[in-house]
Amino acid sequence: MTQDGRMEKIISLAKRRGFIFSGSEIYGGLAGIYDFGPRGVELLSNLKKSWWKANVYDKENAYGLDAGIFKHPRTWEASGHIGGFSDPLAECRNCNARIRVDKELAKIGVTADEKMSEDAINDLFDQHRGEIACPSCGKKEFSRVRAFNLLVKSNLGDFTSEGADPVYLPGEACQGIYLDYKNIVDSMSPKIPFAVAQIGKAFRNEISPRNFLFRMREFEQADTQLFIRPHANKHAYETLKKDRWSWFLSLGISEKRLRFKQHENLVFYAKDAWDIEYEFPWGFDEVEGVHDRTDYDLSQHEKFSGVNLHYTDPETGEKYIPWILETSMGMGRVFLAVLCDAYCEDEMDGETRVVLKLAPHLAPVKAMVSPLLKNKPELVAKAREVYAALKKVVPQIAWDDNGNIGKRYRRQDEIGTPFCITIDFDTLGEHPDLADTVTLRHRDSGEQERLTIADVAERLRAAVE
Ligand code: GAP
Repeated sequence: MTQDGRMEKIISLAKRRGFIFSGSEIYGGLAGIYDFGPRGVELLSNLKKSWWKANVYDKENAYGLDAGIFKHPRTWEASGHIGGFSDPLAECRNCNARIRVDKELAKIGVTADEKMSEDAINDLFDQHRGEIACPSCGKKEFSRVRAFNLLVKSNLGDFTSEGADPVYLPGEACQGIYLDYKNIVDSMSPKIPFAVAQIGKAFRNEISPRNFLFRMREFEQADTQLFIRPHANKHAYETLKKDRWSWFLSLGISEKRLRFKQHENLVFYAKDAWDIEYEFPWGFDEVEGVHDRTDYDLSQHEKFSGVNLHYTDPETGEKYIPWILETSMGMGRVFLAVLCDAYCEDEMDGETRVVLKLAPHLAPVKAMVSPLLKNKPELVAKAREVYAALKKVVPQIAWDDNGNIGKRYRRQDEIGTPFCITIDFDTLGEHPDLADTVTLRHRDSGEQERLTIADVAERLRAAVE
């Protein structure tokens, strides 16, 4: 249990209220695979919309892309993933559980450099074998460490099943941007500096998927690649970092639970790397990487494909390979950060309630409409009318007439619905001054106000933008 079981409570709520399901659950599940349920898919889509707005629509020189998942096998040789994209793995001799040696070493305060050779990490592991216990059975007997490549193989187009030249699933989504860079330059004539943004799937054979959506084997990455003039990286990098920080704050995430952390060990493609970390219930951990990739990727693809990927600068006429600054965020990780940050237990009307204090633009349901009493046909008819009218303004509106009004509020609080709208006898004109008005209840404070239906529609429109 972490922090009074906070993580377990969030996972339970996510399943119970239709946000996240374990993949293939009826067959016992599949490690590292999760599905977004009816409410999860709405929250995810709202996150994507917000990210796309900030990274494409609000920028002057940014282009969207949606590249195919499968890529030519040479892509992964050029990118360096076939040679260098591996984690150090050892197997428990007693129960065959696999451990990620660098992570286990980190738990006892020992750092394993990402660029270490297999021999070097074996030497380091040998020095600490006695201190590391198998997380499954507790024994301390492990095999030799070997580098385990994380790329997931497919048999696309392999009709002989010999497995020669496999087509890999993408280990990182951004490779699609590099493969289409020339097409974008030729079709859109972008002026440097320009950015290409994409939300795409990535797959990694993670040795030990863990922490719910945090480390999965199938996940989505929201990437931007900023193409800049060679050596123009310093100022642009700082601007990019600030820009990303502001976006995380725009999600309503509390600033004290965010931090930047510079990488001590750089992956093979990066010259500099900073992570935006969120304080999850188990501690600070990476949500997004901001990487200075220099001309590594385009130079590699030029070399391996034989296609000229030089850019002709429209201002100076110079020809060069642009340098790249990348932002790469796991959609599952930001989703989880938003859930963790919004999850709250507080007191209302003398009861403890669970509430997701989601920013209204992220909430899966924007408002719930209900009649005060279910057994009064005239109230139900009016409430149905209001529900239909509001749904035309903001489609994510729920109907609930089950149980008493207090129970309805609690159900909506748990899924983060910012507003509840109740139709009562005054709406019908019992008190003539209040005809066609409703009560609007605010999720976080529980306060209620009386508004006309037209004003409620305006409030909703404004709140979800
Ligand atoms: N293109 C650069 C790249 O892929 P990365 O640091 O390996 O860099 C970027 O990944 C982001 O993708 C991470 O910050 C994280 O949010 C997300 N990510 C990476 N591995 C993941 C996994 N196994 N499960 C969920 N998200 C993951």
